[in-house]
Formats: sequence, structure tokens, C-alpha cells
Amino acid sequence: MTAGKNPRTVRSFVRRTGRLTPAQQRALDELWPKFGIEFAPAQLDLERTFGRRAPCVFEIGFGNGETLAEQASLNPERNYLGVEVHEPGIGHCLLKIEAQGIANLRLLRHDAIEVLKDQLPEQSLDRINLYFPDPWPKKRHHKRRIVNAAFLDLCARVLGLGSHLHIATDWENYAEHIDEQIVQSTNFRCAERRKHNGDQPLERPNTKFEQRGLKIGHKIVDWKLARI
Ligand SMILES: C[S@@+](CC[C@H](N)C(=O)[O-])C[C@H]1O[C@@H](n2cnc3c(N)ncnc32)[C@H](O)[C@@H]1O
Repeated sequence: MTAGKNPRTVRSFVRRTGRLTPAQQRALDELWPKFGIEFAPAQLDLERTFGRRAPCVFEIGFGNGETLAEQASLNPERNYLGVEVHEPGIGHCLLKIEAQGIANLRLLRHDAIEVLKDQLPEQSLDRINLYFPDPWPKKRHHKRRIVNAAFLDLCARVLGLGSHLHIATDWENYAEHIDEQIVQSTNFRCAERRKHNGDQPLERPNTKFEQRGLKIGHKIVDWKLARI
């Protein structure tokens, strides 16, 4: 096939072959069927998935899921949906769900871009969280950064009116890039932008990658973007 007809997809992640602990492996075997949702290019019925109708928060790239599980248990009146590709992280989060008896959290193990494009219904979400996306600091890798105009369009499709997209990063150059994308977006307005030292996270708990950034002297930028 010619490259023009079938351009290679540039993804925002590379699959790391991280080792699963025996507990994470058990979680994937036994808990995934209960709390996991298989990817399918068909509209997901959120009411059926959660067994109720409630505002839904979608977290992209939840890492080990500590922050996601914490938010879900603090806000039982909301439904939480997380997407991640890193299997040990998914296993870790499943173990949290089990240990804390969290009833309002479901996980997807797939590329978030395809989930946004093909699986989530239009205007089905109340909020999207993107915390500390992979920064891809080298210039030749910038094309892998998940935040770009197409990503903002995909988020806009699935967010309802009055909803928000939250983003945080500790990489100065990525923050500049995100600012540019926001200014150019016709779907989002910056409701709040906060630069801090990890002490003023915007409507979220601190995250693992945030702590890593702080340890190497990075500042944090949080955005709250209103869907317009
Ligand atoms: C730098 S880590 C941040 C993890 C967590 N949010 C935190 O703040 O600690 C970024 C995560 O996003 C995941 N990721 C990157 N691109 C993704 C995509 N397209 N779909 C799903 N997960 C993705 C990676 O596997 C990785 O675990």
C-alpha cells in the first residue's frame, strides 16, 4: 500500500512491556471482566455500563489509577471512566477498585483517541481529565503529543454543554504548546489557568507524575477549559 493512502498512525504512547506483579495479573484475569470495558467501534451505552444515569468523568492516561480511584471514591454521585494502555497501571487500578469497593469506576484498555472517536457517544461526558500527558520533549517527537487541534475537536464532540476539559502538565514547552492550541480552538474557552508548585492543583488531587516533575524542579500548569 502507498504511504499516501495509508498514512501510519502517530500514537501518543509506545507500548511498554512493563512486568506485571502476580497481584496485577490476577486483577487483569479476575477483576477485568467485572470492571473493564472492551473497546468496540460502537457507541457505548453509559447508563447500562454503570447501571444508572449520572454525570460522567472521563480520565485519559490514568497511569497507576491512584488519582482516578481517589476521585471516584470522593464523588460517589458521579460515574468515572478511565482509559489507559499500560497494563501494570490498569492492574494496579483494578486492585484499588477491589480493595476500596469502588462502585462508580470502569476502565478501558485502549488508545484514548479511538475511544473518543468511535466509542463515546456525542455529548455524553460531564468532564474530561488529562493529567500529565506524556511530554515527548524532543522536537522530533512533538508530533506524538496528544494535545493538538484534532484532539480538542474529539473532546468537544463528546462533552456536553457546560462541561469542562481539565489539563495539567509540568513541562514548560508543552505548556506553551497547549496555550497555543487553546487560543486557536473555537470549541473551548480558558475558564482558569493556574501555575503553581504542586500546592494548588485545580479541582484534582496530586498525581504520581506531578510528584516526579516537582522533584526535578518543574512548575505545574493547570487549565480548566469550558466547552463553548
Ligand atoms: C506521563 S503518564 C501520566 C500518568 C498519570 N496521569 C499521572 O499524572 O500520574 C501518561 C500516561 O498516559 C498513557 N497514555 C498515553 N497516550 C495514551 C493514549 N492515547 N491512550 C491511553 N493512554 C495513553 C500512558 O500509558 C501513561 O501511562
